[in-house]
Amino acid sequence: MATIIIKNQQDIEYMRISCKLAAEVLDYIHPFIKPGITTNEIDKLCYDYIVNVQKAYPSPLNYQPDPKYTPYPKSTCTSINSEICHGIPNDKPLKDGDIMNLDITVYKNGYHGDTSRMFYVGNVTPQAKRLCNITYECMWYGINQVKAGNYLGDVGNAIQKHAEKNGYSVVQEFCGHGVGKVFHEDLQVLHYGKAKTGEKLQAGMIFTIEPMINQGKRHVRFLSNGWTAVTKDRGLSAQWEHTVLVTDTGFEVLTISDKMPAIPSFIKIESK
Ligand code: MF3
Ligand code: CO
Ligand code: CO
Repeated sequence: MATIIIKNQQDIEYMRISCKLAAEVLDYIHPFIKPGITTNEIDKLCYDYIVNVQKAYPSPLNYQPDPKYTPYPKSTCTSINSEICHGIPNDKPLKDGDIMNLDITVYKNGYHGDTSRMFYVGNVTPQAKRLCNITYECMWYGINQVKAGNYLGDVGNAIQKHAEKNGYSVVQEFCGHGVGKVFHEDLQVLHYGKAKTGEKLQAGMIFTIEPMINQGKRHVRFLSNGWTAVTKDRGLSAQWEHTVLVTDTGFEVLTISDKMPAIPSFIKIESK
């Protein structure tokens, strides 16, 4: 049985802070993401910003989910083109036309905030942009299902429907997760599935929604570094992530910031 943690007002206040900090790292780094910069340079800039400006800690650094994993060696995940997630920063420069997911988790006051976005490196093909945009919509269709009394299956189903309608596939090896005092809490948020199945949502739950959507087939291969997942067919993959609080009337997206991308027009925030 999974232990589902319901957050109290105090937890929620601290989560708002950690989540906003994570989103602000993405705002900060955006102008640096251009052809020629290496992912190690991006990682260092993010580390310095989190530690020196935000007075916080980058949750991925030395993170070891269980003893089978080697501790994660960097502060961020940088997943490029056919890399699905957990791309490890290195000394290779980004190239014109790359798409990159940058995943930031910030630990502050004892709480983790987790968010990621896609970035275009220079001039990106229309096909790659379409994948990034549809994946962004998938995340928001999932978020839009969040409300006390709905089911986790409603979230996964909304994401899968939108992805497949557009000719894409949903990665099944990774899921969203509860987040709070622990980076990855028990609750698993699948990005596919059947409506009205799975865990019932309750006000005070906090979890991430972070769909990974592939241009081609959904299947995954792991690199020998033990962390990075790539598409088996070498097609492109995209991912976006927000941390979300369940409320009685809907949802509160916690990983918000001034420069975050616009919320799709099909979302009616006023009614939440
Ligand atoms: N931030 C990732 C997530 O969304 C987890 C990264 S774990 C790491 O769950 F060790 F690879 F950083
Ligand atoms: Co996450
Ligand atoms: Co993340």
